[in-house]
Amino acid sequence: MSRDSHGELVVLNEKAAAAKAHATGGRRRALLYGAIAALLLIVALALGLGLGLGLGLKHHRDSTAPASTNSSGQSLPSLQPTPQNNFVLDGLAGQPPQTRSYDFVISQVLGAPDGVSKPMLVVNGMYPGPTIEVNQGDRIVVNVTNLLENRTTIHWHGLFQNQTNYYDGTAGITECGIPPGQSLVYNFTLGDFSGTTWWHAHYSTQYTDGITGALIVHPASPPPVKFPSWDHELVVQVADLYHTFSSILLASYLSPWGIDGTAGDEPVPDAGVLNGLGQWGGGGDYFNFTLEANKTYRIRLVNTGSFASIRFSVDYHTLSVVEADGTLVQPYDVAGVTLAVAQRYSVLLRTDNSTGGPFWMRAAVQSDMFTYDEPGQNLDIRGVIRYGPTANDTALPVETDDPGVPSQPSLQDMDTAQLVPAVVAPAPPSTRQYPLTIALELADSQLFLGFMNGTSWTPLQGTTTLLQARAAFQGGGVYGTEGGSLQSGGQFMVTEDSVQVVDLLISNLDDGDHPFHLHGHRPWIMGTGPGRYIGQPLNATNPLRRDTFLIPAYNWMVIRFITDNPGLWAFHCHLAWHMAAGLLMQINSLPSKAAQLDIPQSIVSQCAATVDGAGAR
Ligand code: C2O
Repeated sequence: MSRDSHGELVVLNEKAAAAKAHATGGRRRALLYGAIAALLLIVALALGLGLGLGLGLKHHRDSTAPASTNSSGQSLPSLQPTPQNNFVLDGLAGQPPQTRSYDFVISQVLGAPDGVSKPMLVVNGMYPGPTIEVNQGDRIVVNVTNLLENRTTIHWHGLFQNQTNYYDGTAGITECGIPPGQSLVYNFTLGDFSGTTWWHAHYSTQYTDGITGALIVHPASPPPVKFPSWDHELVVQVADLYHTFSSILLASYLSPWGIDGTAGDEPVPDAGVLNGLGQWGGGGDYFNFTLEANKTYRIRLVNTGSFASIRFSVDYHTLSVVEADGTLVQPYDVAGVTLAVAQRYSVLLRTDNSTGGPFWMRAAVQSDMFTYDEPGQNLDIRGVIRYGPTANDTALPVETDDPGVPSQPSLQDMDTAQLVPAVVAPAPPSTRQYPLTIALELADSQLFLGFMNGTSWTPLQGTTTLLQARAAFQGGGVYGTEGGSLQSGGQFMVTEDSVQVVDLLISNLDDGDHPFHLHGHRPWIMGTGPGRYIGQPLNATNPLRRDTFLIPAYNWMVIRFITDNPGLWAFHCHLAWHMAAGLLMQINSLPSKAAQLDIPQSIVSQCAATVDGAGAR
């Protein structure tokens, strides 16, 4: 698509002057703020954990104040990117393989995505950060400069990083984090992965504060099956939004009192965003696409949030799901699509509604995991699509009742069990099976922590598991024991030093749902169901393959993958709070080969750098 020459696609922000009235509330959470003693203890805990508290504390008291204004009387910036192609793809599919270079400068700024001022961590001053659009076979070179007071990393979610495990961007596993004031160049080629994904910081809960962006990889060749086509491509990133800096929330979450007086209750978001814009307390903006009529748009949806699942829908329009986490699926017409944290879907949308727009895009933040009331909370996040005769009219769509209006009343929402890969790919028989348990509880350390097979992950300091694998090999050994566990230092891992087909037999013993993510692979989802895994039958015929999958409370799931990608690969719950609580383990694939990867000297020396303050938790 040649957007610039047509000039028909524009992306606008609109002041939500006519925003619907949102509930406001002045109540304070008495359990958190009522007792000065408790607050002091939490502060002490945060300082003990070195969470960069100073960055956020000074903003905390005004974090629920009405939208701040700057000296010219305008709202603080939403930080929404100015380049329009952040959300409208350029149509570079089919270009010859090439190197695509980017500069990412990470800094802390004050922003107001939903009209409420908050401290944010952002790339190039934008939220969401720059969209990276590439073709399979391209080389990506990203020079990341860290202007924060803590270390940081960038992880390329879903990419396989074959032979470049050291650029996976996982603190404590593949790198130590870029020290403040320093830069790291991530430099890798796009291998087998194609599809919709994203990049984000992988250091403590930093991405919760805004270090996220879309990453779109066009396939090198068209699918080998009949597949629908589309005219244009759009990116829609949805996320929950917290007005309080994430390190403050994390300290409360890990404390024995929890954030609301109950250990383990996760921080509840204040609102949400759609492409960086949300609405809160009568303020905020609506993200807006102006489209061409009678076209098919492929909307690439990403949940870049930290805790809540989000349901996406467009009033009076059918969504046809065609991709899940890079796997093309048989077209599936639905009224709405719910994305767990870190999941992606592509949906096709026809701009053929004859009554004309404007139409609401809805990002409904799902509250089923919330355990306390957040004053003023707005979970009904909107954007606008316009096309047809009224495309240039700036009026907002008329109000309708939640959760929006489907194109036909009988249309159902997407059920992930109904997703069928378009290209049939049977799973090979497994050669290894590892039972795993997921649990979260108050630990002896008086921190509320996550455990996999009884081990809570603690990120290494000053080294990484990948560097340890190299050291072990140079010492004449192999890192890790097959199927075993390196419990010391909180590093639990499954090790295979030969190519195996591994089944992880996962039993979620927790009362919450967990969107788990496996780095470096796109596993087959072999089965899921209530209770523990005790040998229930699996589906190897044409199971869905995806890198992020929701394991419901008290359910089992079996995933299958091949240990043919050398490196240390995180396998973790993608809820930001849970990963920071240690709900992470590693897959140690082919350690003898991983030890011979050419780890850049910059990564080695950045591990040695002395940095005050925070660790990766
Ligand atoms: Cu999206 Cu371990 O990451």
